[in-house]
Amino acid sequence: MEYRSLGSTGLKVSVLGFGCGAIGGLLVRGSYPDVRATVARAIELGVTYFDTASLYGNGQSEANLGAVLRELGEAEGGRVIVGTKVRLGADAAGRISAAVTASVEGSLRRLGRESVDLIQFHNRMGAVSRPAQDTWSVADLLEVAATFQRLREQGKVRFWGFTGLGDSGAILAALQTGQLHSIQSCYNLLNPSAGRAVGPAGGSDFPYENYSQAIDVAGANGVAVIAIRVLAGGALAGTLDRHPVAAPTPNPIGSATDYASDVAHAQRFRFVVDEGHADSLAEVAIRFVISHPAVSTALVGTSNQPQLEAAVAAVERGPLPAPLLARIAAVR
Ligand SMILES: NC(=O)c1ccc[n+]([C@@H]2O[C@H](COP(=O)([O-])OP(=O)(O)OC[C@H]3O[C@@H](n4cnc5c(N)ncnc54)[C@H](OP(=O)(O)O)[C@@H]3O)[C@@H](O)[C@H]2O)c1
Repeated sequence: MEYRSLGSTGLKVSVLGFGCGAIGGLLVRGSYPDVRATVARAIELGVTYFDTASLYGNGQSEANLGAVLRELGEAEGGRVIVGTKVRLGADAAGRISAAVTASVEGSLRRLGRESVDLIQFHNRMGAVSRPAQDTWSVADLLEVAATFQRLREQGKVRFWGFTGLGDSGAILAALQTGQLHSIQSCYNLLNPSAGRAVGPAGGSDFPYENYSQAIDVAGANGVAVIAIRVLAGGALAGTLDRHPVAAPTPNPIGSATDYASDVAHAQRFRFVVDEGHADSLAEVAIRFVISHPAVSTALVGTSNQPQLEAAVAAVERGPLPAPLLARIAAVR
C-alpha cells in the first residue's frame, strides 16, 4: 500500500480510502459481522483512512465504524485516521457555530471517541448564502472553520476541510483562504475536470459540471485532496447491476443526468481492459484517480469484502502509465 501526505497536516494516509457512506452501503446496511470482517481486512491490507459522516445511515455508519475500531483495538491517535462530516440544515442559518458544535459532539458520541482526526463541512458551496437551497457561501464556511478551530482547542478535532461540490468559483475561493486543511473533490474518468482542463461547462466538448481544476488549486495551496465518486457511484464498474447492500441507483454527481447513461459512457474506457492494461473497468477508474499526484487518498465505497480486495489490488498496481493517461484524456 502506498501512503501519501494528507496535505500540510503532517498525517499520512493510504492512497486507498475506505468509504463508509450509503452508496457502497456496507457500513450502513451491512450485517455487523460483515462490517467487522471487511474493516479488519482493510486494515490488514494497509488501509488507514476511513471516511464517514453524521448523515450516513443517520449516524449508523459512525456507530458501526466506532464500534469496529474499538473491537479491533485501533486506538485514537494511532495508525487509523478517521474523517467525519457536519451537514447543516437550513435551520442552522444564523447559529452556525452552535449547530456545528452540536453535530461534532454527536459524531464523537456515536464514534465513541474523544477526538476525530478530520472533520469536514458536508454542504454545497455557492456564490451567495442560500441555506434553504443547501447553498453556503465562503463566509459561512469560514464561520464553520472558526468553530472547528475552537473545537480543536477543546481537543475534539485535529484538522478540517470541506466538500468541493457546488459553485466552482466559491470552491476555488475557499481553497485559497488558508483556513482549510482538506477538500473532498469529485474526480473520475467521466468527469476529470477537477484534475485537468476541459472545455467550458455545458459546451459540446465537455457537457458536465466543470470543477475548474480544484485539485490542482488545492495542491498548490497545501490543501489535502480526498477524491470522491472515484467509481461514479458504481457506474464505472460498467454494469447496471447493484449489490444488495448498495444504494439502488445513485444519482450521478457532476456527470450524466442518470445512472444508466454514466454506465453507457463508462464503456468508452473499456479499451484499456481489452488491450490488457487492467483486469476491469473498476481497476482502470481507481488507478486513473491515484495517477493524479495531488490526490492524497481515493475513497471507494464498498458493498462487500471482495470489492475491497479488488480496490486494494487496483491501487497495488499503481498509477496508470503516462501514454495511457494521454489516450484516456483524448476520449470523447
Ligand atoms: N463529501 C461528500 O459529499 C461525498 C459524496 C460522495 C461520496 N463521499 C464518500 O465517498 C465514498 C464513496 O462513495 P461514492 O459515492 O463516491 O461511490 P463510489 O466509490 O464512486 O462507488 C461505489 C460503488 O462502486 C461499486 N464498487 C465498489 N468497489 C468495486 C469494485 N472493486 N469493483 C466493482 N465495483 C465496485 C459498488 O457498486 P455495487 O455495490 O452496486 O457493485 C459501490 O456501491 C462514500 O462512502 C463517502 O465516504 C463523500
